[in-house]
Amino acid sequence: MDLKEMKSLNIKRNERIDVDYIKGILQPTPTCAIWDEIWNFQAKPDDLLISTYPKAGTTWTQEIVDMIENDGNIEKCKRAPTHLRFPFIEWIVPSIPSGLAQANAMPSPRTLKTHLPIQLLPPSFLEKGCKIIYMARNAKDNLVSYYHFQKMNAALPDPGTWEEYFEDFLEGKVCWGSWHDHVKGWWDAKDKYPILYLFYEDMKKSPKCEIRKIMEFMGKNLDEDALDKIIYHTSFDIMKKNPMANYTSVPGEIMDHSVSPFMRKGSVGDWKSYFTVAQNERFDKDYKKKMMGTTLTFCSSV
Ligand code: A3P
Repeated sequence: MDLKEMKSLNIKRNERIDVDYIKGILQPTPTCAIWDEIWNFQAKPDDLLISTYPKAGTTWTQEIVDMIENDGNIEKCKRAPTHLRFPFIEWIVPSIPSGLAQANAMPSPRTLKTHLPIQLLPPSFLEKGCKIIYMARNAKDNLVSYYHFQKMNAALPDPGTWEEYFEDFLEGKVCWGSWHDHVKGWWDAKDKYPILYLFYEDMKKSPKCEIRKIMEFMGKNLDEDALDKIIYHTSFDIMKKNPMANYTSVPGEIMDHSVSPFMRKGSVGDWKSYFTVAQNERFDKDYKKKMMGTTLTFCSSV
């Protein structure tokens, strides 16, 4: 499907996008329609890829990476909105160039974005040895954030009621598939490939320490002043006000911030306001089963 065809899709609010399966993983149908092109995408060795399960802190990581790349120069990071600075390789919505088109038009070195589980990642990223930053967020907050995002984003299916969405999430019947499989799949790959695996909760608790890890991984060495600028510019309150980082520049027929702002709460533990006691018990039991045997653990204070 080319851009002209996409524009003719003309999503309107309440006319939600349909979904289909790619190798067992739900994806919006426009992504399915160009799946072969996505799968055959040719990464370049100096590409940096930011990979996350949706709503795990992608935009935050992107802003940090851009600030590091630009030596803490805020104005340079305001050159364009997030979705145009970082091609999202499998994303295809009306009135915005597709992720593939953006990536192919962008000079190197490129910083790209994906939400794909590792088994759906175009093979060239791993073959070419690209550096990858993976950010994971605890499942419960991730679920709550995703629920709100699907309510405001016409490029994803309507989430239904909270109770319905809760079940869909546990069954992995959401776009980009099961949270559990996603975080585990990337975790298992992290020692075989150049993957920096980070946690949203750590970034909240000690941004300087986590930003340093990213800086070192990128092969950069910025001074304390630049680091402080990065921490300030990428704090939730500042990013929420920054039109180049808060997604308000995406056409309103796709993202409706009056339903739920993209920069919603940015906190750890927000799930406690949504989960019932019964849902929490059910979630924990299911979590134990699905995460059994992995060395991957999330912050216990969540
Ligand atoms: P909430 O919905 O819980 O507020 P993504 O970028 O992967 O779509 O993730 C969006 C989530 O990250 C949202 O979570 C958003 O508020 C949060 N977020 C974005 N920037 C942040 C920042 N600077 N600090 C903390 N959270 C941030």
